[in-house]
Amino acid sequence: MPSVYIKTYGCQMNERDSETVAAQLVAKGYTLAPAETMADVILLNTCSVRDFAEQKAIGKMQNIVAETRRARPGVVLGFMGCMAQSRGQELIDQLPDVDLVLGTQKFHRAADYVGELLAGTRQKIVDVAEETGSEATIREHILNGSAKKSVSAFVSIMQGCNQYCTFCIVPYTRGGERSRTIPDIVAECRQLVAEGVREITLLGQIVTSYGKREIPVRDGLSGFVQLIEAVHEIEGLERIRFTSPHPKGYGDDLIAAYARLPKLCESAHLPLQSGSDRILKLMHRGYTRERFATIIEKLRAARPNIGITTDIIVGFPGETDEDFEQTLDLCRQVRFDNAYIFKYSERRDTPAALMPDQVPQAVREARNAALLDVINGIGREKYDAYIGQTVEILVEGPSKKNAARLTGRTRCNKIVLFEGSDRDQGQLLNLKITRTGSFTLYSGTHADPNRLVV
Ligand code: SAH
Ligand code: F3S
Repeated sequence: MPSVYIKTYGCQMNERDSETVAAQLVAKGYTLAPAETMADVILLNTCSVRDFAEQKAIGKMQNIVAETRRARPGVVLGFMGCMAQSRGQELIDQLPDVDLVLGTQKFHRAADYVGELLAGTRQKIVDVAEETGSEATIREHILNGSAKKSVSAFVSIMQGCNQYCTFCIVPYTRGGERSRTIPDIVAECRQLVAEGVREITLLGQIVTSYGKREIPVRDGLSGFVQLIEAVHEIEGLERIRFTSPHPKGYGDDLIAAYARLPKLCESAHLPLQSGSDRILKLMHRGYTRERFATIIEKLRAARPNIGITTDIIVGFPGETDEDFEQTLDLCRQVRFDNAYIFKYSERRDTPAALMPDQVPQAVREARNAALLDVINGIGREKYDAYIGQTVEILVEGPSKKNAARLTGRTRCNKIVLFEGSDRDQGQLLNLKITRTGSFTLYSGTHADPNRLVV
């Protein structure tokens, strides 16, 4: 059977979509190629959120065409995901060697289309149409695809976003919000747990809006909190996480859930974007800096050790030095464990791209560097405070950079590297932290008397 290689750009949603497409092809008898040079089908799952991500995928496809087309003309080349959705046929016009362009609501058709292209019954396929019910089609996992079983899995709970932040292309590439049902999601989670998964991350572009139209509020609990409760009941599941929430969705029901539900990990990735009320308004974010800071206070009151990370954009149109100072100031006040900082990137069809006072590239660079300094400084202090403490980690497997080490995560979502053995895989361990690196915790060896299996 032919082999397939999928390269993924962008967020965890894309990772999950790629996994589903791979599982679909494996179920039809395809093998997974270890490298693109050996594959009969090469698919790039793309990201559109910043221009850089699009350019990377296009550049990669150009290289693949140059390297494979002449030697192996039968290879099927495809783009899928967000850039495929937003650019469609245009991608084939630009790169005529591309055979397949598969949009974000069509992942479940991948195997059929690849089959038709390989068989030669069709020459080119572009499918970026909307499809009702596509939110429920992403469910295949390939936990057994690698030698070791995964202990941690991502489960897609909804697709799309209706928030229309003025800088963001996601509502256009992923469409409007569509949620799966609670029983459907719980069934998938149960299956994963039966296969050995101990940690589940609920995934969506704006998970706090989960079920907003479909699921009525019950006893003051939003659809999202009802879903977390239902997943929480699954026996054998140890940890629940979710990403990405929106600050406006942090109602008191969700904050109370952190205090009430022990499997819900004390960790939150809460995108701030800016610390200036004026910019937040221009961004159409729907909260103020004060509201954001209050949410953090409440979360810390519910779970004092909660790890909080964020996303911040610097150089949004019209952002003045004063606005930027407000962002720095809020970061010093809130003290994030880590933050992903992005230089604003104009996205076509988004309102912000047309706003006056676009910030010069050099200013975006300078603000990026200044904010990084503040975030790194606070991060270092926060990580160093772990030295000497014992933390519970779930062991995920060998570290990618150094196979002699194992890697796991704390409940607060901090990466821990330690020297262990094969049998630690998938275990919950209590490890004493001995030193820190850049946003990484390190623990000692087997001989450590504090090293206990939970
Ligand atoms: N809620 C979504 C957001 C997707 S984009 C999710 O996390 O799945 C991820 C981050 O990219 C955003 O939080 C924002 O900080 C950044 N981002 C989005 N559009 C951007 C743009 N046009 N320029 C720079 N950064 C952007
Ligand atoms: Fe994008 Fe804002 Fe939705 S950042 S994904 S439009 S919440």
